[in-house]
Amino acid sequence: MRLLVIHGPNLNLLGERQPEIYGAQTLADIDAMIAQTAQSLGIQVTSVQHNAEEAIVNALHDARKNCDGVIINPGAFTHYSIAIADAISAIRIPVIEVHLSNIAAREEFRSRSVIASVCAGSITGFGANSYLLALHAAHLAGGASKPEG
Ligand code: DQA
Repeated sequence: MRLLVIHGPNLNLLGERQPEIYGAQTLADIDAMIAQTAQSLGIQVTSVQHNAEEAIVNALHDARKNCDGVIINPGAFTHYSIAIADAISAIRIPVIEVHLSNIAAREEFRSRSVIASVCAGSITGFGANSYLLALHAAHLAGGASKPEG
């Protein structure tokens, strides 16, 4: 199984960005944890980080050609990017939404995800472990199906 992990805007600043919310680990720390867990599950994983919406849409398009699934933390785009939601709908591989913080327990505007309904599932609130739980979910599903509709 080949998976792409997409980290969205501002996640390159993890470690210094609001550590009380997002934790003390840097993105490099998290990517190392992802690589280690993926290896133990026999998953081939590539991680990328993009601050721009266009780059995330392009990464989703490319993933349909060479990946079995995607794990995405779209950062603030979660709450308003119809372009990213449309890209997820357009590709035929399952996508798992992850968040470090519990988006349902924060400001009102963060409680709405415009991508949740087009993803296979969402994991939110477990810090860096959200990504590891997503890897386990993908492994257990062995290629989770897209939601109906
Ligand atoms: C986030 C939650 C978003 O609301 C926020 O804009 C982020 C990070 C998270 O991982 O908790 O950038 O996606």
